[in-house]
Amino acid sequence: MTDMLTPVLTDIWDAEQSWKLATYVDQGGYAALDVAFAMDPDDIITAVKDSGLRGRGGAGFPTGMKWSFIPQDNPKPKYLVVNADESEPGTCKDIPLMMGNPHVLVEGVIISSYAIRANKAFIYIRGEVVHVIRRVQAAVEEAYAAGHLGKDIHGSGYDLDVVVHAGAGAYICGEETALLEGLEGRRGQPRLRPPFPAVAGLYASPTVINNVESIASVPAIVKNGAAWFGAMGTEKSKGHGIFSLSGHVQKPGQYEAPLGITLRELLDLAGGVREGHQLKFWTPGGSSTPLFTDAHLDVPLDFEGVAGAGSMLGTRALQIFDDSVCVVRAVLRWTEFYQHESCGKCTPCREGTWWLTQALTRLENGQGSEADLDQLIDQCDNILGRAFCALGDGATSPVTSSIQYFRDEYLTHLSNGGCPFDPARSTAWAGTEVSA
Ligand SMILES: Cc1cc2nc3c(=O)[nH]c(=O)nc-3n(C[C@H](O)[C@H](O)[C@H](O)COP(=O)(O)O)c2cc1C
Ligand code: SF4
Repeated sequence: MTDMLTPVLTDIWDAEQSWKLATYVDQGGYAALDVAFAMDPDDIITAVKDSGLRGRGGAGFPTGMKWSFIPQDNPKPKYLVVNADESEPGTCKDIPLMMGNPHVLVEGVIISSYAIRANKAFIYIRGEVVHVIRRVQAAVEEAYAAGHLGKDIHGSGYDLDVVVHAGAGAYICGEETALLEGLEGRRGQPRLRPPFPAVAGLYASPTVINNVESIASVPAIVKNGAAWFGAMGTEKSKGHGIFSLSGHVQKPGQYEAPLGITLRELLDLAGGVREGHQLKFWTPGGSSTPLFTDAHLDVPLDFEGVAGAGSMLGTRALQIFDDSVCVVRAVLRWTEFYQHESCGKCTPCREGTWWLTQALTRLENGQGSEADLDQLIDQCDNILGRAFCALGDGATSPVTSSIQYFRDEYLTHLSNGGCPFDPARSTAWAGTEVSA
């Protein structure tokens, strides 16, 4: 089974001190830099376009195309900003990547900045993960000392400075324009678009914002060629990606595999659902993506396959829930998170997430009536597509999809007068370990 894995970004994670410059260089690290400097910046953009790399931060926008939107005739400085905010519930790939191999990100930052003609790059890391900030900062310092950053890198005549920035700690700061607000020292709230960041981003200058994994994928594309990358994955979703399995699996962790792998295959690699239990529901791409059930085990985990089955590939954060979990309680927890993280800028999300939480709390406690389910759907309808940014849209996904697949479980809460998974209320679950 292991030939299904394609370790590229995760390749050196189990090496001794994998995060050190010496280890990375031993494994061929920073060699792609010289290949890149021998190329015209536009040719690098073309190579990334040809590879088919699509943004790994959730939306899947083609990376090379994003870079080509930077207006090179604009006299203002250009910036590269790496989005390392990673705060979506279940999403846990960028943090291990930065801990295990920070230099592949630094090398990616240099090549990507060179391609878009930026002389300054920022790595915006979620503020709470101080250990990650320290690790990336140490890698940047090592890279400066070795001449991979700073003036006249590798004698190429190209200069680049990199700033590691600690975010102030809010999920919304992962939304790219809120991130820019935060980076400029303001409260993290999304900006109206247009103008798009490629035209007027950081300090109103042309800016590319990419996810950690997108940028870290660039060195191998430059070194091995677009065709090498494009040979992995599916027709429209090329390359390798990190799939994060968490929750009720025997071996949770990061599985780097071609896009298009299925959860059934990943569960085989991860030893299956924990012993004595069955898969009940799962998220294909974090908590903002509509839930899947055991009927979706063979959906190809690429952008088109997951969308075709009614959800989104998102960040490939596969949270696995077995039959001991109350879906209503899980959805309530996620909704409380969205309510807490709503930045308050727009009414549908600020008010709507509050109302969703109230209704879900009542239902989880066995109060209310079946009409509350229709009201929940109606509230979601009033948020989806009407919120200012995708946080509001994402907050509706667990609610609508759980009602779609588990309406009966909601109704059982009502007929039972409370959560049937609460051992005090039901004998049906006697002897079963119940997850909070
Ligand atoms: C509420 C919210 C949170 C987000 N958090 C992140 C994040 O932590 N990391 C990330 O890369 N993208 C995040 N995004 C997506 C970014 O806005 C943006 O699409 C992404 O950084 C683009 O990079 P990519 O093209 O390389 O995927 C978030 C979006 C929203 C709406
Ligand atoms: S959708 Fe939510 S997070 Fe986004 S701008 Fe509106 S209130 Fe803020």
